[in-house]
Amino acid sequence: MKKGKKIYEGKAKIIYSTSDKDLVIQYFKDDATAFNNQKKSTIEGKGVLNNRISEHILSKLSQIGIKNHLVKRLNMREQVVKLVEIIPIEFIVRNVATGSLTKRLGIEDGTILKEPLIEYCLKDDKLGDPLIAEEHILAFDWASKTEIEKVKKMILRINDFMIGMFGGVGIKLIDFKLEFGRLTSNGKKEVILADEISPDTCRLWDSVTDKKLDKDRFRKDLGDLIPAYTEVAKRLGILHEQSNLSVVNVTKLSSIKRKRK
Ligand code: TMP
Repeated sequence: MKKGKKIYEGKAKIIYSTSDKDLVIQYFKDDATAFNNQKKSTIEGKGVLNNRISEHILSKLSQIGIKNHLVKRLNMREQVVKLVEIIPIEFIVRNVATGSLTKRLGIEDGTILKEPLIEYCLKDDKLGDPLIAEEHILAFDWASKTEIEKVKKMILRINDFMIGMFGGVGIKLIDFKLEFGRLTSNGKKEVILADEISPDTCRLWDSVTDKKLDKDRFRKDLGDLIPAYTEVAKRLGILHEQSNLSVVNVTKLSSIKRKRK
């Protein structure tokens, strides 16, 4: 399988075509953005960690029957994924109130929700990904009623699984964002999980100290983002104790190689 042309570039990832029309390569950048691109930076090693963490979580989800786009990780920054037609909705799942929910509705930060809350945002950077109702999705045909019902069922299973997975390693899953896409096979369309699940797209707090182990370290200028993401990877068993420096070393090595070219 050969890597082809860039077909899409988002804020944190690039999608390349491949010699197989059904597969694409998803490349994880080191770029970090927040508040709809108003705050930007490059954090060396972030893409490497997100690639590994997302691969780990999506593989585990496959094992419990959640169909998703991951085929296999190729290298430190790239994975082969199935080409899907992305549904233009960001599905936000919340277990504890924080972030935009507390600002929007005046709910106290840290309030435990009695049930997971699913919110929908239209995936449109120009409009700042506005919050929308399920009725908007149906009114403008962004997804069908059947697709939404299927997605909601998958979301609740994903949430239950991830609460357990992170809970087992001393991390609280506060909230996260998911994206889904339509996969066409044998002329039929099926909705599957796509994009990434990583500390860029989740809020993860240490169970004992409430220390933030996610992109809020960048959003709120808390610093030490790489050590926090590395901590998540280590606790999930992806990186081993002594490999603390290896992510940074590999990133440095690959940038040296790039400069030499
Ligand atoms: P929010 O509180 O800012 O609405 O974010 C809710 C969750 O969704 C949080 O885990 C971060 C994630 N998220 C993204 O992954 N991408 C986004 O563009 C936004 C706004 C949030």
